[in-house]
Amino acid sequence: MPSIQKLQVNTFRNLHQETLNPVPGVNLICGQNGSGKSSILEAIYFLGLGRSFRNTQQTPLIQHGSRSCSVFGELSDGLTLGVSRSLDAPPQIRLRGDKAQSSAELAKHLPLQLLNAEAFKLLEGGPKTRRQYIDWGVFHVKHQFHNHWREFKRCLQNRNILLKRKAPASEITPWTQEFVRHANIIDQFRNDYLSLFLPFLESILANLIHLEDLSFRYTRGWSHDEDILSVLEQGLKRDFAFGHTVAGPQRADLKIRLGSENACDILSRGQQKLVVIAMKLAQGAFLVRESRLQCLYLIDDLPAELDKENRGRVCRLLSELGGQVFITGTEQEELLDTIKNSNFDTNDCKLFHVKHGIISAM
Ligand SMILES: Nc1ncnc2c1ncn2[C@@H]1O[C@H](COP(=O)(O)OP(=O)(O)OP(=O)(O)O)[C@@H](O)[C@H]1O
Ligand SMILES: [Mg+2]
Repeated sequence: MPSIQKLQVNTFRNLHQETLNPVPGVNLICGQNGSGKSSILEAIYFLGLGRSFRNTQQTPLIQHGSRSCSVFGELSDGLTLGVSRSLDAPPQIRLRGDKAQSSAELAKHLPLQLLNAEAFKLLEGGPKTRRQYIDWGVFHVKHQFHNHWREFKRCLQNRNILLKRKAPASEITPWTQEFVRHANIIDQFRNDYLSLFLPFLESILANLIHLEDLSFRYTRGWSHDEDILSVLEQGLKRDFAFGHTVAGPQRADLKIRLGSENACDILSRGQQKLVVIAMKLAQGAFLVRESRLQCLYLIDDLPAELDKENRGRVCRLLSELGGQVFITGTEQEELLDTIKNSNFDTNDCKLFHVKHGIISAM
């Protein structure tokens, strides 16, 4: 059950050359606005996924005036990871010092859940965020999923190119057949995962908030009573008209409703935050249960939008999950106070201060 025991960050945003030795328990990162708190979490995320959580463009990660940035991590089980970006060379990922092929290899070793202001997108954003949420869970418990998803995307792209080009149906058919094969497997994986995970999520949610009418419902991207092959065959004219494939697992969603309405239209901001926290923590906890892997939790600005009692509930839940936690906040007293109300072992808590990108352990 690895945790990060050493993190080294080089010319990454406003962090010049910083080293952090976190504890396996809870790491509190305190500092003023613009000091570098989110950048530390972003560096950890970069180490686990090979990309930023802020931009699709990766160059803003590189410190102004530098030509590259890198993050190295040493895990408690001895594994070393390294990720770098450069303006002059392709991105590099290293595992145990050797070049790795893809960021999926990092993700396998460092499963992490991020909770920041963007996490609200799970409720108020489009289906893509929720598909990614489902697929995070499926990826970590079903290792074959990644290959099927990659192959599926290839079929989808090729099929869409042919549809745009108004190619003859005979050219589209082989891609449709492969599309269907992977689509059914992906749907099966997602369905199997959610049928076990959703009841578990409800039990975690009950620790944080009581919302009787809240429901989660998986929609697979095509009608439940039809098979995807006939949907695609019958919808070929429509697909030609749109210039892309309308039905399939690329359209799946997890509908989150309160009664008959979208939860995000009814819930208060604080209630939304609790639902989102429950969704993220439940996935981490479920991963531990299913695979014995541990999960890392990055929580940017925990105090925002939560009252003291709810902050206490979240921290108690976090302490029960047992993973490594990084929590940022601007007020030291508020952060320490929250931890006092939880069951975290005080010997397994560490406080860091960050000022103008310089980190010091307290
Ligand atoms: N590529 C870069 N090079 C240098 N500095 C950068 C770069 N990108 C962002 N910054 C700066 O890094 C600083 C730290 O940003 P960060 O988002 O980590 O702050 P923060 O402590 O989380 O603040 P807040 O409390 O407002 O969320 C900011 O001043 C930002 O302008
Ligand atoms: Mg921040």
